[in-house]
Amino acid sequence: MPPVLAFREVSRSYRTAGGVLPVLRGVSAELPAGRAVSVSGRSGSGKSTLLHLAAGIDAPDAGEVVLLGRALGRLPDRERTRARRDHVGLVFQFFHLLPHLTAEENVLVPALVAGDPPGPAAARARALLERVGLGDRGGDPVQKLSGGEMQRVALCRALLRKPTLLLADEPTGNLDEASGQKVMELLLGVAREEGSALLYVTHSRELAALADETWILHAGLLERAP
Ligand SMILES: Nc1ncnc2c1ncn2[C@@H]1O[C@H](COP(=O)(O)OP(=O)(O)O)[C@@H](O)[C@H]1O
Ligand SMILES: [Mg+2]
Repeated sequence: MPPVLAFREVSRSYRTAGGVLPVLRGVSAELPAGRAVSVSGRSGSGKSTLLHLAAGIDAPDAGEVVLLGRALGRLPDRERTRARRDHVGLVFQFFHLLPHLTAEENVLVPALVAGDPPGPAAARARALLERVGLGDRGGDPVQKLSGGEMQRVALCRALLRKPTLLLADEPTGNLDEASGQKVMELLLGVAREEGSALLYVTHSRELAALADETWILHAGLLERAP
């Protein structure tokens, strides 16, 4: 089976007031189907950049990002957007939920955008909320939920359309230790049950160690933790 995601000699730099800032300098790595990999590295080392490239939200200056065998940079914009919508789920540090909508409505947003049949989507949304322990909160506006609960809703939203690849950028960065631990256990557990490959960024050594494999960004390159 081909890897879900491959970085091939990927470079990315940014133009800043101080000049050109090289962030990634020829990163190569593969994420096999169903595997969970954590990404660590100091602040500013390029972790978010790596995830944005994986999602096709950003493009490399050189090299290729290959999602399910297709080089994202060679796809027309519309196809790249569709590839992301159909195969990638995203979880963010600050949840990015719509505060006035209910938990279930938030989970259903990707199905609405994609034009999926509403009945099966709603059944799946309810099953996912049940799975993360929020079966009785689906009708509540998300602004009434705790941070940990909001992130569990965001996880359900990311999983709604059964992504092959789940990307999470510091998903516990805005949570206290106990709810962060719970969110990370659910993230890893549900990704495994669903067969989604998972790439997550964390600052926590303990949470990083829960992955099958750990990548560390340092000086623009990826090192594999022993
Ligand atoms: N759009 C941008 N323009 C200029 N500099 C950027 C931009 N995005 C990120 N950077 C810089 O690139 C470096 C890596 O950023 P990022 O990938 O967000 O790091 P991390 O997520 O590891 O903290 C940082 O120094 C950041 O300031
Ligand atoms: Mg970041």
